[in-house]
Amino acid sequence: MAEAMLSRLLANGYGANQVIVSARSPERQAYLHSTYGVTVASNSDVAAAHTVILAVKPQVFSEIESELADSSVVQHPGTVLSIMAGIPSARLRRLFPQRLTFRAMPNTPAQVGAGVIALATDSAATEAEVVAVKELLSVLGEVVVLRENQMDAVTALSGSGPAFIALIVEALCDAGVAVGLSRSLTQTLVYGTIAGTVKLLDEREIHPAQLKDAVTSPAGTTIAGIEVLETAGVRGTLIQTVKAAYQRAQALN
Ligand SMILES: NC(=O)c1ccc[n+]([C@@H]2O[C@H](COP(=O)([O-])OP(=O)(O)OC[C@H]3O[C@@H](n4cnc5c(N)ncnc54)[C@H](OP(=O)(O)O)[C@@H]3O)[C@@H](O)[C@H]2O)c1
Repeated sequence: MAEAMLSRLLANGYGANQVIVSARSPERQAYLHSTYGVTVASNSDVAAAHTVILAVKPQVFSEIESELADSSVVQHPGTVLSIMAGIPSARLRRLFPQRLTFRAMPNTPAQVGAGVIALATDSAATEAEVVAVKELLSVLGEVVVLRENQMDAVTALSGSGPAFIALIVEALCDAGVAVGLSRSLTQTLVYGTIAGTVKLLDEREIHPAQLKDAVTSPAGTTIAGIEVLETAGVRGTLIQTVKAAYQRAQALN
């Protein structure tokens, strides 16, 4: 996700000379410099920037805390934006007491600029400071502002969501093959049907039940399929799925 953010920033008008990055392994450092032309520096140099983006794995963050704790750079003013799952902003604020702290949770479609990014803002931030962080994150997709205590729910819904959707997409593709279509034709039909349905619901602001009713003719094919979905308890299963992910996110905090 760190690399996705870097590449999307550079593809969206930010200059390589505006960004400095750090990484642990020399191979990764060389790769980041040669691929993106950005300056690779120490964690301490990165922490001195006006806007610091924290994108290491959550379990690595304690190493960063120990490394920077006694350094004067943590006293610099500015903004710190964390995309690390499960690290509360109070902990970020302890390390960077002079900075505004923002927490964001992107999801994997962010790699192609089609993510949804939940953003918990710092209550001390001005409107302009919030806009600046939203602008930064908008290279990854649509930014939604919410409260920090909603982050576990976001992790379960839009964070884990791409895996749930991918599983459903895969199953529908198998279903197309099962009724005699080629794998590639099936893929085109399934991707298009999902993307088109979401676009229609969104642009026309239709309730999902209205769209379902419009497609379902008396004694027709669609209602025959819907009966199977309802008998299998698909609605309840999806609700249970997200609740299980939510409980797991809470347990990991
Ligand atoms: N992947 C997702 O879909 C997703 C979604 C939402 C949020 N996130 C969050 O994004 C963060 C990054 O996840 P990821 O999957 O992108 O991890 P990743 O691919 O491992 O990237 C982490 C980067 O941090 C660097 N790093 C590791 N230890 C370091 C250290 N001590 N000092 C400086 N840099 C160090 C790594 O460099 P080396 O390779 O050299 O170790 C690597 O470039 C996580 O906190 C995760 O919770 C991810």
